[in-house]
Amino acid sequence: MLERSASRYADVYGAWRRDPEAFWSAAAKDIDWTTPPATIFDGQAGVYGRWFTDGVCNACFNAVDRHVETGRGDQPALIFDSPVTDTRRTWTYSDLLNEVRTIGAMLQALGVEKGDRVVIYMPMVPEAVATMLACARIGAVHSVVFGGFAAKELAARIDDAAPKVILAASCGIETSRVVPYKPLLDLAIQMAVAKPAACIILQRPQLTASMLEGRDHDWAELRAETLAAFRGAECAPMAATDPLYILYTSGTTGLPKGVVRDTGGYLVALRWSMENLYGVKPGEVFWCASDIGWVVGHSYIVYGPLLLGATSIIYEGKPVGTPDPGAFWRVIEEHKAVALFTAPTALRAIKKEDPETTHLKGRDLSCFRTLFLAGERADPDTVEWARERLGVPVVDHWWQTETGWAIAGNPVGLGLLPFKPGSPTVPMPGYDLQVVDEAAKPVAAGTMGSIVIRLPLPPGCLPTLWKQDQRFHDSYLADFPGFYKTSDAGFVDEDGYVFVMGRTDDIINVAGHRLSTGGMEEVLSSHPDVAECAVIGIKDALKGEVPCGFVVLKAGDRRAPEVIEAELVSLVRERIGPVAAFKIAITVPRLPKTRSGKILRGTMKKIADADPWTAPATIDDPGALEDVAASLKARGF
Ligand code: COA
Ligand code: AMP
Repeated sequence: MLERSASRYADVYGAWRRDPEAFWSAAAKDIDWTTPPATIFDGQAGVYGRWFTDGVCNACFNAVDRHVETGRGDQPALIFDSPVTDTRRTWTYSDLLNEVRTIGAMLQALGVEKGDRVVIYMPMVPEAVATMLACARIGAVHSVVFGGFAAKELAARIDDAAPKVILAASCGIETSRVVPYKPLLDLAIQMAVAKPAACIILQRPQLTASMLEGRDHDWAELRAETLAAFRGAECAPMAATDPLYILYTSGTTGLPKGVVRDTGGYLVALRWSMENLYGVKPGEVFWCASDIGWVVGHSYIVYGPLLLGATSIIYEGKPVGTPDPGAFWRVIEEHKAVALFTAPTALRAIKKEDPETTHLKGRDLSCFRTLFLAGERADPDTVEWARERLGVPVVDHWWQTETGWAIAGNPVGLGLLPFKPGSPTVPMPGYDLQVVDEAAKPVAAGTMGSIVIRLPLPPGCLPTLWKQDQRFHDSYLADFPGFYKTSDAGFVDEDGYVFVMGRTDDIINVAGHRLSTGGMEEVLSSHPDVAECAVIGIKDALKGEVPCGFVVLKAGDRRAPEVIEAELVSLVRERIGPVAAFKIAITVPRLPKTRSGKILRGTMKKIADADPWTAPATIDDPGALEDVAASLKARGF
């Protein structure tokens, strides 16, 4: 099928396969280097080799300065569209350059130097994007923490990254409520062992945060002082292998993994993807409706579009409720976006409220060419609904925080390949995918197995975990020697199309957000009345999956189970955050286990999802599964 297609994909992928270094060397020419790399790949460096080891460049220069130097100064770089505050603001590339120079100087004045970490705990405002770029400018390593996490999660990230400075806003705005950020930040710093030297607080008109004398600085005041003193930061020369950022993601325990992104490889891969995968040209408007707290936001709200010289939309709102399910179509029309990148759950939310897309009527979406989906499995029904309603190709693509850009997709810029429902299409150049069984043996086409990537990973992917080479090796490289384990299961069909069916670990995907059930179990177990527990992800028509916790209470004279269940729901919200969407806790008399004591989470999930199930032969007490089924039934599942 691929050979018969008009797409250039087969040629381009083949060229990469024949000579990966020549391929990436050519791609690297689209980046401005202070010292162009003579070494494209050094297999001896790092844990599995490093890209562009002797190259020197600066991510902010490539995303901002060079566009001003080449005549894009007056072109919008960022369009801020915030239905929740009824605000629209545009920053040209020249405006953005002024901001990054100023914020860079503000950070330097507080002692931030090359290699220092800076935590950013901010909502979707343009200042947050400028702060990320300002860090890149001065060589500081940013670590953005998503606003929906609770203080304890923020504290864990602060302790791991040990930032010199934290930048935060006074609040975020959810559909109908103002979320105060500052109390969470104060609590997190109180909990953390690694204390930042200073905080810079952006006071938003919706809420004024109280300031701590000596530690907290008012953003506007610091900015005004810096401008008055004509101070501005210049771009620091960075080795391609220097870390650009750390982004924490859920691991199998409550302790998040600090995914490290290096500088040179990331710029090369993202720049390549913008034109070849997303089919976008410099000067066009690209909209990624994610959040800068996630990898998708890092790569395709901030770095990807700006490296290309495109305009990026920063949207502070939701697909529905801000104010209605026509919000996405309004933004596309108003700002003339050529592409939208969102999560399938956002489309399901729109489809649920407006199945007939009455909110599309009268909108001129003639500028709009492609809808991109990622973050979770795209169900064929939703994809088909969107394709039919919008009349544009709907491109599902598969990737992870760890990879930083798509592992598999349908490359619009190279010419679309025929679509297959349920498949994110084919591997991108750089990724040699294999599907293997538990003994690491490749399986036949069409057979399910673990999806692994032959080392080295391409530019842009993580070289390691922050200060944890061993954990990186143990988590990703140890199980299948010579390969990176994606922890996704699936198959590749006869035509080379990839199908990603689900995780092989205890990570679940809730509304496009990646969460650890192990982390939630740690929280439930900490409740004094809980003897043991198991958290599973159960099917949800809107969010894809939602967590469901089963708990066995300690013996003795206890309070009513409903009271404890409500406490458990609050506890997860308080410890992990609202983003966990943990709303179901169910008391059961016992948990189903194998004779060796392993909890049968897989079978429990089948029962909850109303999938066919049988009790495994190794089960210790078959009645325990019946208990789970009965408890679920009693709760209306
Ligand atoms: N700060 C504070 N709280 C936040 C938050 C933030 N940045 N983001 C989400 N939350 C809160 C929500 O308000 C909600 O709180 P609630 O329990 O009081 O209602 C909770 O976290 C769960 O949020 P979410 O799962 O996002 O559900 P939702 O009902 O608010 O919205 C969707 C549902 C489908 C509209 C929404 O999840 C969505 O747009 N998802 C797209 C996801 C996405 O872009 N992912 C990035 C990968 S591409
Ligand atoms: P995150 O690191 O938060 O981006 O989550 C990565 C995980 O989300 C992957 O390992 C997959 O399990 C899932 N995922 C992301 N995109 C897709 C997709 N297009 N199809 C199926 N699963 C996906």
